[in-house]
This record gives sequence, C-alpha cells and structure tokens, in this order.
Amino acid sequence: MPSVSDILETMDYGPAPEAAGEVLKWLSARGDFGHYINGRFTPPGTTFEVRNPATGDLLARVSQGGEADVAAAVKAARAALPRWSKLSGHDRARHLYALARHIQKRERFLAVLETLDNGKPIRETRDIDVPLVARHLYHHAGWAEMLAEEFPGQGPVGVCGQIIPWNFPLLMLAWKIAPALAAGNTVVLKPAEYTPLTALAFAEICAEVGLPKGVVNIVTGDGATGAALVAADVDKIAFTGSTEVGRAIRKATAGTGKKLTLELGGKSPFIVFADADIDGAVEGVVDAIWFNQGQVCCAGSRILVQEGIAGTFTERLTARLGKLRLGDPLDKSTDIGAIVDPVQLARIRDLVAQGQAEGAVLHQAPCQLPSRGSFFAPGFFTNVAPANIVSEVEIFGPVATLTTFRTPDEAVELANNTRYGLAASVWSENINLALDVAARVKAGVVWVNATNIFDAGAGFGGYRESGFGREGGREGVGEYLSEAPVKAKAESAPVTLETGPVPEAPAGVEPIDRTAKLYIGGAQKRPDSGYSYAVRGKGGVIGLAGLGSRKDIRNAVEAAHKAAGWGRATGHNRAQVLYYLAENLAAREAEFALRLKSAGSPKPAEEVATAIRRAFYYAAQADKFDGAVHATKSAHVTLAMPEPFGVMGIACPTDAPLLGLLSLILPAIAMGNRVVAVPSQNMPLSATDLYQVFDTSDLPGGVVNIVTGPRDDLAKTLAAHDDVAAMWYCGSPEGARMVEAESAGNLKVTWRVQNRDWLGAEGQGRGFLSRATQIKNIWVPYGE
Ligand code: NAI
Repeated sequence: MPSVSDILETMDYGPAPEAAGEVLKWLSARGDFGHYINGRFTPPGTTFEVRNPATGDLLARVSQGGEADVAAAVKAARAALPRWSKLSGHDRARHLYALARHIQKRERFLAVLETLDNGKPIRETRDIDVPLVARHLYHHAGWAEMLAEEFPGQGPVGVCGQIIPWNFPLLMLAWKIAPALAAGNTVVLKPAEYTPLTALAFAEICAEVGLPKGVVNIVTGDGATGAALVAADVDKIAFTGSTEVGRAIRKATAGTGKKLTLELGGKSPFIVFADADIDGAVEGVVDAIWFNQGQVCCAGSRILVQEGIAGTFTERLTARLGKLRLGDPLDKSTDIGAIVDPVQLARIRDLVAQGQAEGAVLHQAPCQLPSRGSFFAPGFFTNVAPANIVSEVEIFGPVATLTTFRTPDEAVELANNTRYGLAASVWSENINLALDVAARVKAGVVWVNATNIFDAGAGFGGYRESGFGREGGREGVGEYLSEAPVKAKAESAPVTLETGPVPEAPAGVEPIDRTAKLYIGGAQKRPDSGYSYAVRGKGGVIGLAGLGSRKDIRNAVEAAHKAAGWGRATGHNRAQVLYYLAENLAAREAEFALRLKSAGSPKPAEEVATAIRRAFYYAAQADKFDGAVHATKSAHVTLAMPEPFGVMGIACPTDAPLLGLLSLILPAIAMGNRVVAVPSQNMPLSATDLYQVFDTSDLPGGVVNIVTGPRDDLAKTLAAHDDVAAMWYCGSPEGARMVEAESAGNLKVTWRVQNRDWLGAEGQGRGFLSRATQIKNIWVPYGE
C-alpha cells in the first residue's frame, strides 16, 4: 500500500474499482441462458462457457445455436414482419425511444456487464459504448418517425440476419438493430461467442418495453451458428467482423438475392505532418490504437510521421506510452484492460513475435502484467519494412507500426498501400494540406485532427476489402430499405457465337463491310484472339465483331486504371464532355437509328432519341449529384462525399444495344469512374459505332473501354479482377450468381441490374448515380 507521501510524489491513483455485485447477482439468478426467440427465452440447450478475460472466471453458460434454433428465430421474425412493418413510423419510433430510455436507465449495469464480458476498461463502456448505444437508438427513433417523408416509395427489406463481433458487443448490436427496426424490418441477431451477455440483457429490455414478440430475436453461438443464419431464409445479411469471414459470406450469399452489407477489417493510416499539433497527435495515437486494446476495426494501426518531427514525436509517444495504466478493467483509472480471449491474445503475441523476427523493433509500455487474465502491454513498432507482416496484417491488438515519410504525396501513397480502406486520420494545422490529403486517401471515414469518433448521425463503412455498405446516418437507413421495385423485363438469350479469324485487310481497305474492333485506352484494338464473331441482323450477317478474351479485359482494365485523372476532374469538366458527347450523338441520330433498325431493334428511332436525352441528363447531373453535411454530436462537420469507385466493370443487357449500354455507362462516368463495358452480345455494333462519338467528344482515352464477345465469360474476368472496384451485371440469374461469387476476391461492390424497359423512367435516375458512388465521411473540426 503506498503512503500518502508516496502518492504525492508519484501523483499516482489508488485503485477505484466499480462494483460488480449487481451484475454478478443478475448472472447467477439467470443461470444458463437459452436463446431469445419470439419474445421469450428458450430453455438452454448445449451450452458453452463465457469467461471474464481479465480473470478467467466463469461468468455464464450460453447456448450454442443450431440450425433448428436459427430456423425457429427466423420463423418468428417472419411472422412478426407484417404487423411491425405496417405500424406507423411514429409507433415504431415510440418503441425505439423506449429502448433508448431503458438502456439509459440501466447504463451502469450494462457498462459493468460489458466490461466483465469483454475486458474493456469501465471508463470506455461507461463513457463511450453505452452512451453511444442510447444515442443510436434515439437517433433512429427519429428516422422511424420521418421514414415515409424522407424515403418515399421505399419499404423494409424484410427479415434481417445480423452477425456481430466482440469488440463493441452492445454498440454493434445497436448499430444493427436500430436502423433495421426503424425501417420496419424484423431481425435475428447473433452476437459473438466471446461476448454474448449484453445482447441477452438487451433481449430482456426488449421484453420489458413490450416490443412485439418476434421483432428482435437473439440466437447465441459460434461461427457455425453464424453460417446457419447466413444460409437461412432471411432477406438481408448484415455482418461485422473479419475480412476472411466476410468473404465467405459474400460467396455463400451469391445469387440468393439476399441484400448484403459487410463491415470488415482495416489497417488504417494515422498521418502526422510536421506542422501538426504534436501533443494533440500523440494523444490521438492513444485513442487510435490503445483504445479498446487496439481491438478496433478502424484503429489507426499505421502511424506515418513526417521525417522532420519523427524524433520528437517518437520521444513524446514513448513518454506517453509509459504513463498508460494497465490492469483491472473495472478500475475507473485503468486505460488498458484485457484482451477479449486467450485465443486473441495468442494471435496478437504470434503476430508481434513474427514482426520482431522480421526485424521490427518493439517499444512496449513498461507495464506490470497481472498474474492472471489475458493482458498485453501496449506499444508500437519502429524499423518496420513495408513487407513485414505487421505492416500488412491487422494485429487487432494494442500495437501500431510507426514509419516516416517525406512529402504529402509519399504520405498518400503509403496510406493507400493496403488492401483495406476503412478509415484514416490526418493531423496538420494546415487546413489546405489536411483536406487535400483527406480527399486523396482511399477510406470510407477520414478524421481531420481527430480519430475514432463515432456518431449515429454519420455514416461509417469501408472502401475496398474493408467491405461495403454504411452504418449510421441517412446512408445507413438506406441499407435497410428495399429500392422502389423495378418492373423486370425478360431479356433475349445471348446467341451462340459463330467465330472465325478476323480477315486480314489490305492496307486501307475493310475486308467486309463492317469488322468492328475493341476500344481500349481510346484506340481501336484488334482482339488478342485474332478472332471475330458474326453479328446477325434482320437480313442475315450484318457485320463482324471482335471476339474479346481475358487478355483484352486485362488490357482494358489497365487502360482504365491509367485514366485516373478522370476521377479528379471536376463535375463541371465531366459535364462539358458529356454534353459534347450528347451533341455528337445527336448529330448522328439518323445514322444510329438506321444501324439499330438493321440490327433488329424494335424501336430504333425512340432508342436513339432517348439515349441522347439520357446523355444530356447525366451531363446535367455530373456537377449536381453531391453529398451532404451530417450533423453529429461533437464539434465537427461531417462531409458525406460521394466518390467514384475507380474502375468499374459493366456487363450490358442483350436488348436495347445502344440505350442499355449508355444507360449504364453514362451515370458511371458522370460520377468519375472509368469503365470497361461488355456490350450486348447479340447486337454489339451500335456500341462499336460509338467509338467515333467518344473520339470526337474529348472523352479522355481509357475512360470508356469496350470489349465485345461472350458476355458472361468476359464478365467473369471482370468480376474476378482485383483492380476492378465495382461491377454491374445485367443478365441471367446464373450469371449474377457467378459475378457475385467471383467478386469475393477483392470484395468489390456488385449490382445485379434488372433488365427493364430502358426507354422508360426506370432506365435513368439518381438511383444509378448512387450505385456508381461510395460515400466518404470526412470529419472536419468546426465550431467551439
Ligand atoms: P470473426 O469474423 O470470426 O467473428 C465475427 C463474428 O462472425 C462472430 O459473431 C462469429 O461467430 C461470426 N462468424 C464466424 N465465422 C462465421 C461464418 N463462417 N459465417 C457467419 N458468421 C461467422 O472474427 P474473430 O475470429 O473473432 O476474430 C479474428 C480476427 O478478425 C481479429 O483478430 C480481427 O483481425 C478481425 N475482426 C475484425 C472485426 C471488425 O470489427 N472489423 C471484429 C472482430 C474481428
């Protein structure tokens, strides 16, 4: 026991643990837990143990959900759906308010329970997790109230299967359940096996507030239970967890029509410029990587420091590291609690040891580790080579890497040198520099002079292999609504290709009337195969089209990649090019109509006229489809900016060969994407006729690339390509399944486009533009 003079000397705190008695009493009164299905707890089945990671003590036994449990929960959710979705938004809002208020009433209880179950410090559960849970429920009660007005014509998706991780157990539950319920869905939620207890306490709260039975169902269990939920009769899966499992879920749901959102891992950069407030940035690191023991998907795990201040920064960081208090998570002065489970601890130890073996130098806090429980002293690595495992792999523990850079360009390059894209944090007192870097970093969330702030009012979610979909804000509610339904139209089957070598032409002479080439990088290119295929129109063969192959797709993607300047052009610039394109198409209206007629298009004149109007429409939208400023709780403005994906693959419908193609290409390029398109397999020649229109419209080479040939084979290569960030596919159900399954490699965003009446209103609109963009949320200090 330190004496008073010792304490005055060190200014150290004495222990101040939060009492756990009430929670332990609750746990022992409940005994073994069953699942919460249809408004009541089932009798416990086969159970597994849930332990306190700080002590190893047994907290509870919880049931391992099997297929039958999942099926029962889904059945209850399905039965509850009609009534719940037909309640007025106001009535649903009242239920959400009641949940929020009851959470607030039990704030201390839930904070202690979460700390016991997860091992995170009570300061965090009390001041961050649980208040944010209440905030999320209140915020979404508001969305329920306004749903009809804010999202006219849209309805709930249906029964939602939700699978959550263990790092913010109750908060992730709220992120999933609040928007789902607000939008009129019912849910079956599976908490993580390490941390199911606050979800079970939440189930009790649902019963307490009189939430109609079956609206929220909780099934506990491990990955097998999660997999059973993915396979069950649900309309949507919302998942947060590892990229590996996200990928498996992408494959498992391919072709099922289940809506999917994935919030996955990250290796987020934390960029400190020489002109940053160094002490502020050091404190930022504490919140970035030592918060929640680094078990945070958006943790700033790669610290990038500008060379000139690297020495000072590292010194101050080391000093701050030495002041962190590790120990009993229930102690109010603990900074670093326990790692969630011995399995995770072993994983962190292995990765850290491997990093050291590969030459990185570990700077670790000189903490005394408790004699029992899963603890890991926080720290950071220096001397880290880019190829070191700890530079690339998510450690998911309290250890960052620290490397240096010289120029802003180099910082951006290093920041983007990862397959992930969840978050980034930029530190500089120079607003021009900070916002310039924020714009160039590929991440779904960017914090300027801040890190790890969350709010129900702002969207959260990743780029690239960090997943897709957003949680929070307007975007998050949209993920739980079905789009206004499209009247799907059957499409003509793609014809079998009659192939042969492309006849060699003597210089300057076309061998047969029309032998269309491919269009790659702004130039006409012979197909790599050297073959073409016959295109039949009303009166027999009307021309030949290049038989594109995998190699051509790869070349086209490379050309599109190089045309990155298009994404940086202003909306105004892009609008100018699209207006020019519209005018050039209009100048050749009669000619295109004739070509379409000979190809067999049923309404050639109407098709061209609509295509021209559509080009004007998307030119008009190019500088108008913009973002929003979200109101969040802290002193920030959160700019929600729609950004292009980069390179998009587009497989076009077989019918409406000109209009189908332009209806998909135009919104994509209007938003700054570059496109590799596979036009109608049956009638590709009106697409190839567009090459000249593109050439005369100042469209930079590589922005639109066209590869003719077997649509589904070419779509497969596009869907599997790691440099294609999004893929739209219009075609057969089998083709859509193939595209979704192939997309799992880099977790590209896919859209199965229903074939529709392309001449009608459903062929254009803001829906296409929002499908062509992903939202980046940039938190900028504002006010105060
Ligand atoms: P995980 O991805 O296996 O677990 C997350 C959730 O998915 C849990 O509820 C789990 O039961 C469920 N699950 C597991 N396999 C499933 C399957 N095949 N189908 C459906 N659901 C399934 O993550 P885990 O193993 O707990 O942690 C491993 C690593 O994943 C961590 O070290 C970290 O790198 C990453 N991770 C990332 C998280 C994030 O928030 N992005 C959260 C948790 C883990």
